Amino acid sequence: MTIKGKRIGFLGAGNIGEAMIRGLLQAGLVPAQDVAASDARPERLAQIARQYGIRACADNPTLVRESHVIVLAVKPQIMAAVCAEITPAVDRSKLIISLAAGVSTTTLRQQLPHVERLIRVMPNTPALVLEAVTAIARADGLEGGDLETAQELFGAVGRVVVLDEEALDAVTGLSGSGPAYVAIVIESLADGGVKMGLDRATAMTLAAQTVLGSAKLILETGTHPGQLKDMVASPGGTTIAGIAALEEGGVRRTFISAVERATLRSRELGKGR
Ligand SMILES: NC(=O)c1ccc[n+]([C@@H]2O[C@H](COP(=O)([O-])OP(=O)(O)OC[C@H]3O[C@@H](n4cnc5c(N)ncnc54)[C@H](OP(=O)(O)O)[C@@H]3O)[C@@H](O)[C@H]2O)c1
Repeated sequence: MTIKGKRIGFLGAGNIGEAMIRGLLQAGLVPAQDVAASDARPERLAQIARQYGIRACADNPTLVRESHVIVLAVKPQIMAAVCAEITPAVDRSKLIISLAAGVSTTTLRQQLPHVERLIRVMPNTPALVLEAVTAIARADGLEGGDLETAQELFGAVGRVVVLDEEALDAVTGLSGSGPAYVAIVIESLADGGVKMGLDRATAMTLAAQTVLGSAKLILETGTHPGQLKDMVASPGGTTIAGIAALEEGGVRRTFISAVERATLRSRELGKGR
């Protein structure tokens, strides 16, 4: 199964649902008429349908019936209710892809007893600008080509890694939640610039482009982050003075704890807490 000619249904058109819809259409992977969405808020759904030219489905079972690939993009806490609602509409012809943080395929299979072709993935919101990173969990019960379909779908909006499902909570804690951490880094760097006399817009451009450029350098050249740091930090210079301040603030310890805390929260969500 390749994505070409398949209808994709987004059940939930919130932050990540919209990011995926926009990214997919921008990437030209599927035409807008082959994309549909359903959502609890009719006015938001109408606005998304208008903005992107996709179809709005009045209810979740209709969306499932009318789609070949269904992306479950609602909060983990309401996944059980949504699964109960769509169960009568699901059969073997449907490929179900869940984005819900922490909700295991074991739990989803209990909630969707007729589903065989089920894939759990963890994308992130830079899908909006085709710079997502998505982890796709290997799964049993798939048809030949299903994993490739998921890779094609999420590959259109960024990079894809294929992992065992056990790794997905850590992925959630790192790259799923990561855009929020990086946004705080950018905002803080810009605040520093403003504190030292730069205007806000200039400081924001400098901060965001520095993060983007450094990330690109690491990804495209394979440079180790430590090497990149050493390239900038000359003896007795400005950068090492700044790094010393970061270390005083426990920046490494704090980021490691952030990923750990978010991973543990993902595991809790998986247990319905
Ligand atoms: N945001 C991210 O960066 C991100 C990244 C990776 C994975 N995820 C996962 O993606 C899922 C969605 O996250 P999100 O941030 O996009 O959440 P969100 O912004 O709250 O989007 C979910 C959307 O689904 C709607 N909804 C609620 N109940 C529904 C129902 N019964 N049927 C249809 N639609 C319903 C919500 O409407 P209301 O607002 O009215 O409730 C909302 O518009 C979560 O499971 C999350 O773990 C998110």
